[in-house]
Amino acid sequence: MNMQDKVAIVTGASRGIGRQIAIRLGQAGARVVVNYSSNMAKALEVVDSIRQAGGEAVAVRADIANVQEIESLFAETLSRFGRLDMLINNAGIMECVPLAEVTEELYDRHFAVNVKGTYFACQQAMKHMTGGGTIINFSTSVSGAMLPAYSVYAATKGAVEQITRQLAKEFGPKDITINCIAPGQVSTELFLSGKSAELVDSYRRMNAFGRLGEPEDIADAVELLVSGKARWITGQTIRVNGGFN
Ligand SMILES: NC(=O)c1ccc[n+]([C@@H]2O[C@H](COP(=O)([O-])OP(=O)(O)OC[C@H]3O[C@@H](n4cnc5c(N)ncnc54)[C@H](OP(=O)(O)O)[C@@H]3O)[C@@H](O)[C@H]2O)c1
Repeated sequence: MNMQDKVAIVTGASRGIGRQIAIRLGQAGARVVVNYSSNMAKALEVVDSIRQAGGEAVAVRADIANVQEIESLFAETLSRFGRLDMLINNAGIMECVPLAEVTEELYDRHFAVNVKGTYFACQQAMKHMTGGGTIINFSTSVSGAMLPAYSVYAATKGAVEQITRQLAKEFGPKDITINCIAPGQVSTELFLSGKSAELVDSYRRMNAFGRLGEPEDIADAVELLVSGKARWITGQTIRVNGGFN
């Protein structure tokens, strides 16, 4: 993959899946904006590892749940690199709580980060991605499993999938593809935190390969979608889950 001169924003790139995507795009020659919300030290580590491999990257703090901060993230990208070719809307949060225990605060916070953040970042891409490009949003394969305690999280990701479908024909005339990746269980803090070893093991057995997904598995799918080979794929949700469902 040759991404020379291309510019990417990866939201939530300080850790987990976003970190690996940022590094992968940086290795391919893209100039990468490593977005984070609170974990500056981790974001700077990602920037360092891209620079050490000869790439160009910058860390930019922005709470993706806040529209003004999203606008600043894009303004800073444009002022630093002068263009935008890829938006990877990866930032997301997940707390699994049964219906009876869901609070208004938890509900609003999940919709603010996962849905509002993705939506208004797309709006900024519509404004600033002027030379064609690619947008990748993030859903989850867990929606298809109908697991208890996932109702709020899965609802936000259902909204993200629908936003992706709706926007495909608005972005098409600008030569921009927009798709959704729906990972299965990936070995990151978001998935592992609060789960017993037994529960993690049971998830491991639910896919075709008997292991958890790794951030690299998802970065591979991103690489495919941002390559010119995926130019006829838009408005789709692609389940990258080792056959979980
Ligand atoms: N891991 C899985 O099994 C799995 C499965 C399906 C889908 N997904 C989706 O994949 C995406 C990445 O998940 P992950 O597992 O890599 O999560 P993770 O390890 O928890 O990392 C989350 C990243 O998002 C950032 N973030 C959180 N809230 C933010 C906000 N308000 N504004 C900006 N950045 C914010 C975090 O930044 P800080 O470090 O600064 O907090 C961090 O970089 C999410 O959309 C998630 O829903 C994950």
